[in-house]
Amino acid sequence: QHILVLHGPNLNLLGTREPQVYGRQSLDDINAGLLRVAGEAQVRCSVFQSNHEGALVDRIQAAAGEGVDFIIINAAAYTHTSVALRDALAAVAIPFVEVHLSNVHKRESFRHHSYLSDAAQGVIVGLGAYGYEAALRYALTHQCGSSF
Ligand code: DQA
Repeated sequence: QHILVLHGPNLNLLGTREPQVYGRQSLDDINAGLLRVAGEAQVRCSVFQSNHEGALVDRIQAAAGEGVDFIIINAAAYTHTSVALRDALAAVAIPFVEVHLSNVHKRESFRHHSYLSDAAQGVIVGLGAYGYEAALRYALTHQCGSSF
């Protein structure tokens, strides 16, 4: 069992970036919390952030050969633009949950469309950093190693 958590562009700035929108936790804080929860469940968890679309595509492609069985992805702005990320997720056929810290549906209309949502197992928006934890707990209880 191996879960991969992917963070897209500008999420390296969490904590200082528009804290009224994205909260005060840093990406390191969020990742540490996820690794702790995964560790308690004795499930392998890898985290990766990039500001580069191609690097995220490469990471998704690599996941297939690493036995990753679930992906949690906040593609950030690439959510709204990237056919390449959608195609990469389809190519590896690894089930995934899409997470957004903010409620994208009460923001600008260009954030309402996602290239990933209709291919996702689920989508969590607006719950802040807890959204990642909720996605992870879902993966641990409903996905990894269990048939549902
Ligand atoms: C985001 C929402 C996106 O619209 C935005 O571009 C981000 C972060 C979120 O987590 O709320 O960078 O994915």
